[in-house]
Amino acid sequence: MSSDASGQRPLTVHDLVAYKQAGERFAMLTAYDYLTARVLDEAGVPVLLVGDSLGMVVLGYDSTVPVTVEEMLHHTRAVSRGARRAVVVGDMPFMSYQGSPDEALITAGRFLKEAGATAVKLEGAGPVVDLTARLVGAGVPVMGHLGLTPQHVHRLGGFKVQGRGDGEAGRIVGDARALRDAGAFAIVLEAVPAEVGRRVTQAVDVPTIGIGAGPRTDAQVLVVSDMLGMTGGRLPRFVKAYADMRGVVSDAAKTFQAEVASGDYPGPEHTY
Ligand code: KIV
Repeated sequence: MSSDASGQRPLTVHDLVAYKQAGERFAMLTAYDYLTARVLDEAGVPVLLVGDSLGMVVLGYDSTVPVTVEEMLHHTRAVSRGARRAVVVGDMPFMSYQGSPDEALITAGRFLKEAGATAVKLEGAGPVVDLTARLVGAGVPVMGHLGLTPQHVHRLGGFKVQGRGDGEAGRIVGDARALRDAGAFAIVLEAVPAEVGRRVTQAVDVPTIGIGAGPRTDAQVLVVSDMLGMTGGRLPRFVKAYADMRGVVSDAAKTFQAEVASGDYPGPEHTY
């Protein structure tokens, strides 16, 4: 594999597994556009997830349920163009893989062939375990996603913590083992008690990537707009904002408007 101008070769899913073997924690962030992908890639983030959260964050839907394959491919292409080093993972949207496995295979292939992704992410277990084996066998790396699976929001009755109680926790551990045995290279664990995060992480030899799964997973992921403090409103307990981008953008927009109104912008230095 060739290196880029900085001498860094693009990362692969095997590098992420090696991080776990070496005990190195890593971060994943969502990205939905070229510019953000460039910035995050240059900051050294090793995995960029084009999450179907884009439905809520970028497109303004109430849930991820309405997101289409074409919307996902459009944004995955943009992120792939911005990522020089990071592994790009495309989220397969609701009902693009729950029906015919043949169709799921073709759609997963589109993420790699047409959108430049390295891997796809699928939510849940059960039939998704066999599908994972099929995709991996066909050359499509698969990231699993257990715990709170937002595509199932209507069945779950809301965005609720999962895996409370021994039976539920044991089921998630079993599902994680099954996905790993089917060839998944990593597993997202969303909104589960920290003890479930710890148990799953111990049970599988591929990285667990937590979001609201406590401190003992191998990696952590956040939605980029949450991490940047851009989202606003009531956010889940696990979100930590590392900047106040909402404030920065709002202040800049207000200052720009004020300078336009006063005639201070454009000044002579901005004028031909
Ligand atoms: O869609 C998404 O952004 C996700 C992450 C929250 C893991 O699935």
